[in-house]
Formats: sequence, C-alpha cells, structure tokens
Amino acid sequence: MELYSIILAAGEGKRMKSKLAKPLQTAGGKTLIDRVCAAASGAGAKENIVVIGHGAEQMKAHLGDSVKYAYQTERLGTGHAVMQGIEYIRSRSGAVMILCGDTPLITAETLCAAYDRHCADGCAATVITAVCDEPYGYGRIIRRGGEVCKIVEEKDASAEEKTVCEINGGMFIFDIQKLDSALKKLTCDNAQGEYYLTDVIGILKNEGERVGAYTAEFEEILGVNDRMQLAEADRLINLRNVRRLMTDGVQVLNPETVRVGDDVSVGCDTIIYPNTILEGNCEIGEDCVIGPNTRLKSCTVGDGTEVQSSVALDSVIGSGTAVGPFAYIRPNSEIGDNIKVGDFVEVKNAKIGNGTKIAHLTYVGDADVGERVNFGCGTVVVNYDGIHKHRTIIEDDCFIGCNTNLVSPVTVRKGAYTAAGSTITDEVPQDALAIARARQVVKEGWAKGKKK
Ligand code: UD1
Ligand code: CA
Repeated sequence: MELYSIILAAGEGKRMKSKLAKPLQTAGGKTLIDRVCAAASGAGAKENIVVIGHGAEQMKAHLGDSVKYAYQTERLGTGHAVMQGIEYIRSRSGAVMILCGDTPLITAETLCAAYDRHCADGCAATVITAVCDEPYGYGRIIRRGGEVCKIVEEKDASAEEKTVCEINGGMFIFDIQKLDSALKKLTCDNAQGEYYLTDVIGILKNEGERVGAYTAEFEEILGVNDRMQLAEADRLINLRNVRRLMTDGVQVLNPETVRVGDDVSVGCDTIIYPNTILEGNCEIGEDCVIGPNTRLKSCTVGDGTEVQSSVALDSVIGSGTAVGPFAYIRPNSEIGDNIKVGDFVEVKNAKIGNGTKIAHLTYVGDADVGERVNFGCGTVVVNYDGIHKHRTIIEDDCFIGCNTNLVSPVTVRKGAYTAAGSTITDEVPQDALAIARARQVVKEGWAKGKKK
C-alpha cells in the first residue's frame, strides 16, 4: 500500500513576530518543516505534499522541488487546507498522513508505529493523541466504550468535554478515498466558522468506519507557536541528541550546556566538556577530549585527539592530534595525525602533514605543509597580495624560525631552515638555511650619549 503525507503549513504564525514563515524557523539546527518532512519520509511517505499560503515564496525557495506544493489562498481551517492537498492524490489508493509544519518533534518511529497499527486494525482513520495535564487549547478526544467517536475543539467543547486530558496531536493517518469522501461532507458550522479537519473523525465514525488512536508522548506533538515554544523544541531536540551520544558511550559533562546536532556521531570513551557545540555533519572518533568552550562544525576528527577552547569549521583533523586552546581552524583544512596546533594559531585552506608542530601565534593559510615541520612562534604565511591569494609549499622536516614571513607563492624544500625574523620571498633549497634580514649593528656607548 502506498503512503503519502500532506503537511499543513499555510498558517501565518503571528505569535512568532518574525519575517520568516513559521515552518522555516530553526530548532536543533534544522528548520521545522525539514524536520517534519524528514519524519514523514522516514516513515515511508512516497511523496510529501506541503500546503502553503502565508510566506509561500519563502517556503518554495527553501524546499525547492523536494516536495509537492498545494496552495491555500484563504485560511479557512485545517479541513480546508487538507482539501487543497488531497487534489494530488485523489486518484490514488493507499494512506495519507496529515502532519503540521509546526510540530518538529514528531519522529519517524512514532509515525511508523501508528501506521502499522492503522493497517493492522484496518482503520479508515487513526488519530495521534497524547495525554497531558493541561489540555487547554487542544482538541479533545471523546471516546465511547474505549473507542474514539469524535474530536471537539476547545472553543466548541462542553464543560464536561473540557475535563478530558487526552488531546488531538493534530496528526492523522487516513485511507485516501475515505478521507476524500468525508471532506466533501465538512461544514463550517462551529465556534470558529472554520472547516475543521477534526470533524472528519466524527463523520467517518457515524458512517460505521473504524477509527483508531495511537497515543504518543506529549513531547512529540509539541506545537511551536511562539518563541518560548521554539526554544523549548530546540532544547528537547538537543537533549535527544546528547542522550544519543551518551547511549553510544560518550561522556558528556554538564549535558545541558552542550549542543549536539542530528548529524553528529562520536566514538565511545570520548569526553565532551561543557560549553561545546557540535553541529553540521561531524564525525568524531573514540577517546577524544573535546571542549570546554569548543565549536566544531562539519568536521571529521580521528581517535585520541584533543580540541580545547577552539573553533574548527568544515575541516578534517587526524588522530592523536592536539588543537588549542584558542586555535581557529577555518574551512577546507586537513590536519593530519600527531600534530600540535597550539594557542592563537589560525589555519585556513591548508594541508598539514603528520607530526608537524605549530605551537603558537602562527597563521598558516593556503599552504601545503609536509610532515615533521616545526613552526617557530609568530610565523605568518603571507598568502594575500591585496588582489590574489597564493599557495605556499613547505616540504617535510623543515624548521621555520620564529617570526618568519613566507611571502606566497614560495617553496621551502625538504629539511631546510629559515632564520628567525626572515622574510622569505624566494625558494629555499633542500637542507639549506635561508637568512633574509638585515645584520645587527652595534653602536657602542650610543645610549649614554643620548641621555646627556
Ligand atoms: C489543531 C486541531 C486541534 C489540535 C491541534 C494540535 C483542528 C480544527 N484543530 O488546532 O484539535 O489539538 O491542532 O496542535 O484541526 N493551517 C493551514 N491552513 C488553515 C489552518 C491551519 O495550513 O486554514 C495549518 C497551520 O499552519 C498549522 C496547522 O494547520 O500548521 C494547525 O493549525 P492551527 O491553527 O495551529 O490549529 P490549532 O488551532 O492549533
Ligand atoms: Ca489555531
């Protein structure tokens, strides 16, 4: 049986007070709509149909052709939104999940489990519910003899119905054909004058159809309507990722101060110190020490490497390497094994060979550095002439004296030395010493004369 999804995302999201359409807000490093689409696809949806209206252009610019679009020009309610979306699949058989663009915590696992139950029980509709202490504002699940018979909205509920703590998560699975025929019977005869999708449940039940319910954790149906709920969704997604790492054998200290994205993996026995951010696509090895105060974005890190109080972006760092404190590794760098990148060292678009030491106060940009090279303190690779960037090559086993300027493009051949304070503009041959600075002049007694 084919499975589709219709994701309702035409609403304005007034309470966010944002220039962005609400489903494009970010929680846990990804937009809300991307999270919902990923959950739908993860549960097996063959196609996701997103109902857009408010901020339609922004939504299309973001989602591109990864989804199908349906337009809702007037916001006449959730039932009306589904009427627009069902156009695409009206002629198909199978099931459709109805999801909301502002419930980013729903998981593919929960949708799968609900869908399996829906199929096993032969239901026309399955509603995803949750039980909570404060049901105010949500639609209530009204059961008779244990079976769901209808959903009532807060504004339409009787005093007795308002005491019900089982709520509508706003997510459903329907048989496509049965949903389509029930939608034709919807009216807007209710407190809000809207076409309520929730009324479809009562309609199907009255026609003798089977309506099921799948109860999820309240967390999974948490809706994002304002900035506080956005922060809460972000916190909960982060907590899931931090817990995932700990389950994988990673020691996270002060977990509430650590941020971990969905696409981050870390090997066992690695320790993550407080105030560390691991984001983008990160793959970190075993037995590492990361943090405190460290940000790694889309980096690969080998085993047994230490990165403290540093930032590394879109780069590869090998095994047994020490980075920081206060190092800045900029995109497209490849740092090998058993390397030291010490304090106040900046590396950009450079390849650093195994065993090289760049201990302090050095800039290495646009360079290919060999193995076992030693950089003295205060070395600068002068990669920019004001118009163009140039590359510098430093071969294996070189010794770069303190405060050397390497004016790019320039090559220092294997095993060569540069004298401290040199400004190197020409190739240094293999095993040579290059001295490129004025000789010291000593003027005896000069200072005494000046003081008189
Ligand atoms: C809805 C449910 C309620 C449920 C709650 C869960 C109805 C009538 N009520 O209420 O039972 O407990 O969700 O969060 O369905 N949307 C459109 N077009 C519209 C109206 C809404 O696309 O014309 C979209 C919104 O952008 C949003 C979603 O549908 O993504 C839900 O709409 P919203 O107005 O937030 O529904 P609730 O009043 O919260
Ligand atoms: Ca509403």
